[in-house]
Amino acid sequence: MRRPLIAGNWKMNGSKAEATQLLNGIKAGVAGMQRVDVAVCPSFPYLYLAEELLADSAIAWGAQDVSAQAGGAYTGQVSAAMLKDFACRYAIVGHSERRQLNGEDDALVASKYARAVAGGIVPILCIGETLEERESGRTEEVVARHIDAVLNSSGVEAFGAGIVAYEPVWAIGTGVTATPDQAQEVHAFVRGRIASKNQEIAAGLRLLYGGSMKPGNAVELIAQPDIDGGLIGGASLKAADFVAICQAGEDSA
Ligand code: PGA
Repeated sequence: MRRPLIAGNWKMNGSKAEATQLLNGIKAGVAGMQRVDVAVCPSFPYLYLAEELLADSAIAWGAQDVSAQAGGAYTGQVSAAMLKDFACRYAIVGHSERRQLNGEDDALVASKYARAVAGGIVPILCIGETLEERESGRTEEVVARHIDAVLNSSGVEAFGAGIVAYEPVWAIGTGVTATPDQAQEVHAFVRGRIASKNQEIAAGLRLLYGGSMKPGNAVELIAQPDIDGGLIGGASLKAADFVAICQAGEDSA
């Protein structure tokens, strides 16, 4: 049985004071939950706060990106070893905002994935199609390409050490959520693609849905057989909403 995971992607939001308040609010809200894994991914400068405030809780924390390089002359980048130093469990890689706004291609995303795994960080690999790609019937082709970039460079074993988040680009921050059927269909496709290489790894792989997940739609989405939780953007910035989604994960298990 795959444990549900609810992970918050705060994106470039907040301040020290807001991060402190949010972390404390989430910590109090999920304190009694036993069957769901909870994680938060603040911006790099606030990871120390997560480490400080969450160390005595079951909540994990992670980064929103990781360098594909081990270290050295890479101005502005943050290595897996540095994340480990702040006790990060996760790093998001290949978020569509980084693919689109920072020009990250499949090869770079696959290198980041591999670097995270090698550094003992669990990568959360984001995949998903744009509206245009969906409307032209290319959803499977696009998510297959995103998955295969990692499969071909790191092998299927790498999926035993990571997590995949299906985030249709048209649903991110738009308020438009994929229907549970639409999401389930893609999740089943992704699991099937991994299963064609290794059934056991596919069966254990956690597949999160992301894209306008909120308290009002989380229950139905997480109830789908191949949806094992969520990667939450906007709704992770309000403690009460995020906690309610965590509760949906808790109740699904
Ligand atoms: P959203 O973002 O929940 O605000 O749509 C999800 C994400 O980008 O990870």
